[in-house]
Amino acid sequence: MAEDVSNTEDMISPIVTAYPREKRYILAMMQDVQKKYNYLPKEALKMIAKHAEVPFSQTYSMATFYKAFSLIPKGRYNIRVCDGTACHIKGSAVLIDQIYNNLGIKPGETTEDKVFSLETVNCLGACAIAPVVMVNDTVHAKVTSSGILKIIEKYRGDAGDEDV
Ligand code: FES
Repeated sequence: MAEDVSNTEDMISPIVTAYPREKRYILAMMQDVQKKYNYLPKEALKMIAKHAEVPFSQTYSMATFYKAFSLIPKGRYNIRVCDGTACHIKGSAVLIDQIYNNLGIKPGETTEDKVFSLETVNCLGACAIAPVVMVNDTVHAKVTSSGILKIIEKYRGDAGDEDV
């Protein structure tokens, strides 16, 4: 489905104009937009560039440089499966397979209903509780192949509740 850019501009404008027209606020503007949309729409990068009076290439390169930013839409729940050495040995590949079997998405993809995204990361710094899965800011420890299905069900239920 095509994104309604005019509406996006209306929504993003208050976020951007809340900051002074200075370069040093670019990252903060990006963080606020990403927090609201779970990604940085191209229109947002253009608006931030215009507001801070820098070329679009500058906001674009910043958005691609920092891993915390995404240029593609993500789901409401971003599942990050750690695939570092400790988690890999403890079965992270099985978790990734389970997610694919259940949600039909591979790392880097988002479900069509935009509820879930999946990505893999290298070591979340919690190897003692491997394998580790993060959903947004919540850490799930020692996740089993059946446990990942329960986690998905929990968030699917939460998404349904929020839609009511
Ligand atoms: S390898 Fe997964 S937390 Fe370190």
